Amino acid sequence: MEVEDRARTLPSGGGRFRLPPGLRARLVGLIMADDEAMNELAAELMDPRPHDAVLEIGFGPGRLIERLARAGDAELVAGVDPSPAMLGQATRRNRRWIARGRVRLVQSGVSRLPFPDCSFTKACAVNSFPFWPNPPDDLREVRRVLRLGGRLVLCLRTRDQRRRLLPGSGVTEAEVEEVRCLLTTAGFREVRTERRSVGAALIARR
Ligand SMILES: C[S@@+](CC[C@H](N)C(=O)[O-])C[C@H]1O[C@@H](n2cnc3c(N)ncnc32)[C@H](O)[C@@H]1O
Repeated sequence: MEVEDRARTLPSGGGRFRLPPGLRARLVGLIMADDEAMNELAAELMDPRPHDAVLEIGFGPGRLIERLARAGDAELVAGVDPSPAMLGQATRRNRRWIARGRVRLVQSGVSRLPFPDCSFTKACAVNSFPFWPNPPDDLREVRRVLRLGGRLVLCLRTRDQRRRLLPGSGVTEAEVEEVRCLLTTAGFREVRTERRSVGAALIARR
């Protein structure tokens, strides 16, 4: 997603309160830099290895998919996102990897993943978990497509990161704890939380 496109999606993009375009672009640039830091964290925690098949849920503009494909470690990098606009952007960004069969992107939400049981060794979601419609069932669905021993990484922007820029954006510490409990209830084990300046990551094993 380009800086100006992102700017248009901000609450100020079409409302009464409009920032000058240059300032808006700078603000969105800051947010995107944060997103990149989250993607970096996700890539680090996913630690893709040869023979890994990894899945990203809610890939957005496809930057993490690109990062994982470019690193060249995993055998397959797959992703789902229900938004046709995001699918279009991510497909354009990753076309060379798609052409080589290294990346596969599908328009789908998390609730009914279009993959057989045990398809992936690792799965992740960066800032998409808050959009999932039914977290307890959706986590079970993610668990279904993971192999036994497979890893799930959920990266969540925490609220205090942006309090002054975007009030209400990000999850609270209590919500991070809630997600941790949901993971355990869904059957994941060895659930742990990593906290970084950019947000929190929950890591769990199937
Ligand atoms: C805040 S964006 C994050 C995008 C990307 N992961 C990133 O960090 O740049 C949230 C993404 O979740 C996707 N999303 C919304 N509902 C979803 C669902 N039910 N299942 C999976 N992804 C969903 C949106 O389309 C969007 O691309």
